[in-house]
Amino acid sequence: MAKPPLSMKPTGWFQVAWSDEIGVGDVHRMTYFDQEMVAWRAESGELTVMNAYCEHLGAHLGYGGKVVGEVLQCPFHGWQWNSQGRNVCIPYQDRPNRGRRMRTYPVVERNESVYIWHDAQRREPYFDAPDVFASFEDGRGAGDYYPQQRLFRGGLELHPQYVLENGVDFAHFKFVHNTPIVPVFTRHDFADPVSFVDFTITFEGDDGQNIEDVNSGVEAINGGLGIAVTKSWGMVDNRTISAVTPVDEFTSDVRFMVYIGRPETGAGKDPARAERKAAEFGREVIRQFEQDIEIWRHQRYSDPPALAPDEYEGFTAIRNWATQFYPELYASQKG
Ligand code: FES
Ligand SMILES: [Fe+2]
Repeated sequence: MAKPPLSMKPTGWFQVAWSDEIGVGDVHRMTYFDQEMVAWRAESGELTVMNAYCEHLGAHLGYGGKVVGEVLQCPFHGWQWNSQGRNVCIPYQDRPNRGRRMRTYPVVERNESVYIWHDAQRREPYFDAPDVFASFEDGRGAGDYYPQQRLFRGGLELHPQYVLENGVDFAHFKFVHNTPIVPVFTRHDFADPVSFVDFTITFEGDDGQNIEDVNSGVEAINGGLGIAVTKSWGMVDNRTISAVTPVDEFTSDVRFMVYIGRPETGAGKDPARAERKAAEFGREVIRQFEQDIEIWRHQRYSDPPALAPDEYEGFTAIRNWATQFYPELYASQKG
C-alpha cells in the first residue's frame, strides 16, 4: 500500500456512523484516526464517542460494555464512565477516580449522520459541520425530499483531500461523468474553514452547446476536509453529502448520501411512480460518485501536480486552503 503524502490525522468534522446504526443502549465499535473507539447511546438518547480502552486496566468497552442509564459500564470491573469521559463509580470503592478521564470526542448528529470533531492538538471545534439543508438557507428541509439513499465503501486507500479536490476539477466531469461539455466555476470562496464552490453544469444535450446557455448547476459547501454538501438547481432536485474519514495511515471510509426532491403536492402525478423515479435518479447520482471512487482509490497524490493553465487557480486555492487542517504542517510553517 502507498501511504499518502498528506497526513491522515487532519483536523475537522468527520462522519463515523449513521445515527440509526446506534440505538438507545447500543455500544458501537469503530476505528478512526488509528484509534479504537466506541459510540454509545444513553437512555436519554445522548450519543457519546470515546476511545475504547478503559482507563482502569484497559478492557475494550466495545466487548461487553453496557449502557446503564446515562453511563457506560466496563465489563471487566464495573467502573462507570459518563458522557464527559469521567469516572462516576467504582463499585467496590466509596468514591470514583476523579483524576483519570477517557478521551471523548465532540459529536453532532445531523442529517442522519454522526460526526465527530477530530483534532490532534485537542482544540475545541472552531467551525460548524455543514447541514445539507440549513446551510443553504433556502427554507427547505428533509420533509421536502424523499428518504436519504446511501452508499458506504469501507477501507479504501484514499485521502479525504482527493475527494475535495474533485470540487475544483472541472476537466474530469467530461471524462469520468460523461457530461457533454466542461462545467464552468462561478464561485471559489476559500476564505474560511467552511468553503464554497459553485459551478454551472449540465448532463443533458450534446457537445455543441454553449456553457452560457446552460441553466443548471451545483452549489457545494465544504466543511473542512471531511464533509461536503451540495445542492443542485435547474435539474432533478437533489442534495448530496459526501463524507470521507481516515481509518488508519493508509485507508479511509467513504459515505455518500443523496436526497431527491418530492414533487409539488397536487401536481396530479402518480405518487408511487414519482417515488420510483426518484429512487432511480438517486441511484444514478450514487453511480456517478462511484465512478469518482474508482479513480480516487487507485490514485497517487501528485505534488506538485502538472496543471494546465486554466486549472492553476482552483487547485492552488484549494490546496492552500487545505493546509490549515494539518496542524503539524501549520506548526512547521509558522515555526
Ligand atoms: S478495566 Fe475497566 S473496570 Fe477494570
Ligand atoms: Fe466527480
